[in-house]
Amino acid sequence: MSSSRDPEPVTAAGRPERAPWSLAARLTAWYAGSAFLLLLVATGFLYWVLVRNFEDEEDQYLTEKINVVQTLLRDRAGDATVLEWEVQEESTTRPFVRVLVRVLGARNRLVAETRGMAELLPPSAFRQAPTLTSKLGRGVEVRPGGRDFRILSARTSGDPSERENYWIQVALDRTYEVNLVAGYRRRLWLVLGLGLVVCAVAGYGIARRGIRPVEEIAATMRRTGSTTLNERIEPEGLPSELSALAATFNEMLDRLEDAFARLSRFSADIAHELRTPINNLRGEMEVGLAKARTPEEYCEVLGSSLEECVRLSRLIDRLLFLARAESPETHINREPLDVARELTALREFYEAAAGEAGVALELNVSSGVTAELDRTLFQRAVGNLVENALAHTPRGGAVKLTAAQENGNLRIQVADTGCGIPADHLSHVFDRFHRVDRARSKHSGGVGLGLAIVSSITHLHGGTAHIESEVGRGTRVTLTFPLEMTKS
Ligand SMILES: Nc1ncnc2c1ncn2[C@@H]1O[C@H](COP(=O)(O)OP(=O)(O)OP(=O)(O)O)[C@@H](O)[C@H]1O
Ligand SMILES: [Mg+2]
Repeated sequence: MSSSRDPEPVTAAGRPERAPWSLAARLTAWYAGSAFLLLLVATGFLYWVLVRNFEDEEDQYLTEKINVVQTLLRDRAGDATVLEWEVQEESTTRPFVRVLVRVLGARNRLVAETRGMAELLPPSAFRQAPTLTSKLGRGVEVRPGGRDFRILSARTSGDPSERENYWIQVALDRTYEVNLVAGYRRRLWLVLGLGLVVCAVAGYGIARRGIRPVEEIAATMRRTGSTTLNERIEPEGLPSELSALAATFNEMLDRLEDAFARLSRFSADIAHELRTPINNLRGEMEVGLAKARTPEEYCEVLGSSLEECVRLSRLIDRLLFLARAESPETHINREPLDVARELTALREFYEAAAGEAGVALELNVSSGVTAELDRTLFQRAVGNLVENALAHTPRGGAVKLTAAQENGNLRIQVADTGCGIPADHLSHVFDRFHRVDRARSKHSGGVGLGLAIVSSITHLHGGTAHIESEVGRGTRVTLTFPLEMTKS
């Protein structure tokens, strides 16, 4: 059974393709990620500094305590009261900072000990305690009976006369600091969690704000269709990067609108051009069929129908040629042409027509000029020009065909002494279906596409076409083919 839903797109490996992240999602992730990382590093550093400060202070305190006891043992070894007083002092005067001190003599003889220390931290608990060797000792943390201590020990020799070695064990109750740091840590996690949420929300807001102009551009693009090509993106208020994009898009729309307008004008022109010969054909056939006719009359109808058919096929042939020439896939077959030979052949071809029209067809070309051109297209372009010149030059006139190399360009000129073209038509004669005198062109069979074809052939070769004319004196069309592709 087939499903009406479109199948999910799959990759070459056969796995379903995941939709790529939206721009807003990417920006949000990046913003939130980097802001959160910054926050994490900053709070982590502050936490580390705080813990480190506490440890330093505690180590300082433990070291000082050991130093005092060492001094007492060395200098006042006989005075047990002073030592006892020093060992017990902290426990009575400072209820919060509890320092526990134990002094052991040879063979672990207990010399002095803070009250209650034996239960909390027996001498064996100090097996893992580091020994003070430098100016500042580094204690370690232990956790007997749910209370946190930092412990440090030191070996010392007493009064030189006694020669007894002592082992000093010092512990600092740090439960208060541990709780403080734990509370701080909890608050940090809370801040980090909130920070992550705030960063994500703020990042999303910023991303949405940032891409709103892109969405507006996209909305305009979505609205743009063949019937709404007049839509434009309002560049005002857009960020500089996007205003350049908007300007480019607007320019593209200008070109598209222009191309569409030309295309629809062209279609209308084609319809119009086709309608006349087909209407004529139909009319002639209807008249012919209306009643029985003599063979001569039928011949006349057929003859004029054939004329219309010739005109129609000429029109279709020219339209097809133009359509092909404008297709981007069009390739031309360049080959080295002997220009003099090609033009001589053309003159020979039109000689008869020129003779019939009573017009002299002159050719002026230096031999040895060769050019890389498409033979068929070249002949077609120059042939169209000669046809035009012959059609518009009265009996007794002349048509001059010249070819020369100028600044490395191949320049072909077709000049006549004909009727000329009025100045207001001159800029339009290369347009499709443009005819100066429609009635006369119709009579001569012209469909108004000859010069458009000439223009597209020169463009295909990378060249240009130029026309000059003066009413009553004649017309001169110059085709220039570019330097790079020509050689003599
Ligand atoms: N040498 C010329 N002297 C005077 N008018 C000319 C000349 N060449 C072209 N024209 C004018 O320019 C118009 C356009 O010429 P174009 O060759 O494009 O069309 P056409 O000759 O009418 O038709 P076709 O497509 O059959 O060539 C002509 O109708 C004519 O009015
Ligand atoms: Mg023509």
